[in-house]
Amino acid sequence: MDSQKIRQSYIDFFNSHGHKTIARAPLVPYNDPTTLFTGSGMQPLIPYLLGEPHPDGERLVNSQTCLRAQDIEEVGDNRHTTFFEMLGNWSLGDYFKKEQIPWLFEFLTDKVGLDPNKLYVTCYLGNPEFNIPKDNESAEIWEKLFSSKNIEAKTADIGSEEAGYSRGINPNERIFYYDGKKNWWSRSGAETDTPIGDPCGPDTEVFYEFENVIHDTKWGEKCHPNCDCGRFLEIANSVFMAYKRTDSGFIPLQKPNVDFGGGLERIAVAAINDPDVFKISLIKPIIEKLETLSSKSYDSHTVSMRVIADHLRAATFLAVDGVTPSNKEQGYVMRRLVRRAIRFAFELGIEQNFLEQIVPVITNLYQEDFPEVAASRDKVIDILVKEEKIFRQTLRKGLNEFTRLVGDKLSGQAIFKLYDTYGFPVELSKEEAFKRDLLVEDNADQEFEKLMNEQKSRSQTAAKGVFKGGLGGHTEQHKKYHTATHLMYQALRNVLGDHVIQRGSNITQERLRFDFSHPEKMTPEEIKQVEDIVNEQIKKDLKVSYREFPTQDALDLGALGQFGDRYGDRVKVYKMIADNEEKPFSFEICGGPHVEHTLELAEGNKTFKIIKEESSSAGIRRIKACLLPAG
Ligand code: ALA
Repeated sequence: MDSQKIRQSYIDFFNSHGHKTIARAPLVPYNDPTTLFTGSGMQPLIPYLLGEPHPDGERLVNSQTCLRAQDIEEVGDNRHTTFFEMLGNWSLGDYFKKEQIPWLFEFLTDKVGLDPNKLYVTCYLGNPEFNIPKDNESAEIWEKLFSSKNIEAKTADIGSEEAGYSRGINPNERIFYYDGKKNWWSRSGAETDTPIGDPCGPDTEVFYEFENVIHDTKWGEKCHPNCDCGRFLEIANSVFMAYKRTDSGFIPLQKPNVDFGGGLERIAVAAINDPDVFKISLIKPIIEKLETLSSKSYDSHTVSMRVIADHLRAATFLAVDGVTPSNKEQGYVMRRLVRRAIRFAFELGIEQNFLEQIVPVITNLYQEDFPEVAASRDKVIDILVKEEKIFRQTLRKGLNEFTRLVGDKLSGQAIFKLYDTYGFPVELSKEEAFKRDLLVEDNADQEFEKLMNEQKSRSQTAAKGVFKGGLGGHTEQHKKYHTATHLMYQALRNVLGDHVIQRGSNITQERLRFDFSHPEKMTPEEIKQVEDIVNEQIKKDLKVSYREFPTQDALDLGALGQFGDRYGDRVKVYKMIADNEEKPFSFEICGGPHVEHTLELAEGNKTFKIIKEESSSAGIRRIKACLLPAG
């Protein structure tokens, strides 16, 4: 089965077990300032995993595009990618282990056709410190499933990853218990790392064994499922999300959930029984195009081709989801991906009009299964081609300034400067020096390496700041700003007109930020009017409630939507209405959460104030607003 068929067969299979298909969320999460990108299928579903009812019911399925920018430097081996799809199915307080594990097994063996003899599983060992029991139940289910295929499946307690390297595995062992660093799932890893407020729980993972990969002792003495040598590849993870992390420990969720995630690309790799993810049907055509463009073979230029294929897949989907290259946040990561890809293309000798040729190959691979890719194809190509032009201009500028920057000997510092400011690949600087008859300093490589490492730790520190936030998106303060955003959106339409459409929103504890279509700068009077309307509505203490509607009904009823959101069959619509009025002030499609009464926004004698109104991009304005003590 090729990747596309695996995706479809997965969705069909879970549909047949009562799951509704939900649209993938964009790579840039809405209203979640704690992470830059959607990095797992569950992330957009957190409110529902914590108990809010989902408009599509209790059984959901999809394939979620994900981006893990932390992995950018890892790309180049046979399995790391920054961009991937995560097949997901969820039980929101509905079924649990005894349905999930057999369904997954049936899907992997009978639908995808994986040989059960090559599957190995891991379960949670338990943690007495937090009173969380060993997951015998999952192990017993697995044992029976393997036995149904005439496979003896012995269990083994491994514990830590390190213990795995010294113990290895014995004949007929197939079910392995590991500690919370390996078989506990939260957005940040092990039990104690779980962000406060987040849902979490033990998980059971499935590994596929590539028998031809010989264990490499550089990872550890003996091989075991969680070994990094590549013999075992994790292809599926069923999280039994039964707890919520609190200040003092873990409390059981009233209704435990299942959160399943399986890397589509990894399952596809198992299906072709070849550990190289760059050979699956969703990536191979990109590699083949690179071979044609460069007249070089994948075998001789493996790493460069892998990096290019991965980075451009990621950049393409970022463009589909409305990101453009810039020097900030998501745009910065996108710029880095594109420029890295172009730099690696140098190594293949591809120096011109590169993206114009590759990006259409990528959009072709997705446009049938993701209609938004087809719809934005031309725009996406435009955005990426433009970035290539800008980058090549910068490179040319660097070449013009080369001698001035370098002097008569090329140092590590100059190489770094050329790299950092002008995006010069190291090789290009050296080549240029050679052409100009300049010497290269002996320690240039070490010096460059050192400066690069310093930069890397700086940017990791910055990334941690963004990622550690946990469930910041759901505090009381966030709810208030979320509600204030709805009020302001309606007020803007009242004051400026119905051409005002939301183009983005981002909420932190301190402020709301809102992008909307409007052709010119707002006047001070208009700003004042909007503030007054919002404050008036806060004082009226509108009641905030929601109802679910079929999506079309909601739109027909005039519910405001958010640009760029793709809705499922049913949506939640939030209504804000005064007791004595018939028509709601605000009526808007939204996942929530919100406060229950608008007067809560005035707690502590606060009023709503617009702090800044500025241009965001052509035809789009950006407002930052706060709830501040009056006076
Ligand atoms: N959310 C789980 C994961 O990312 C399924 O592995």
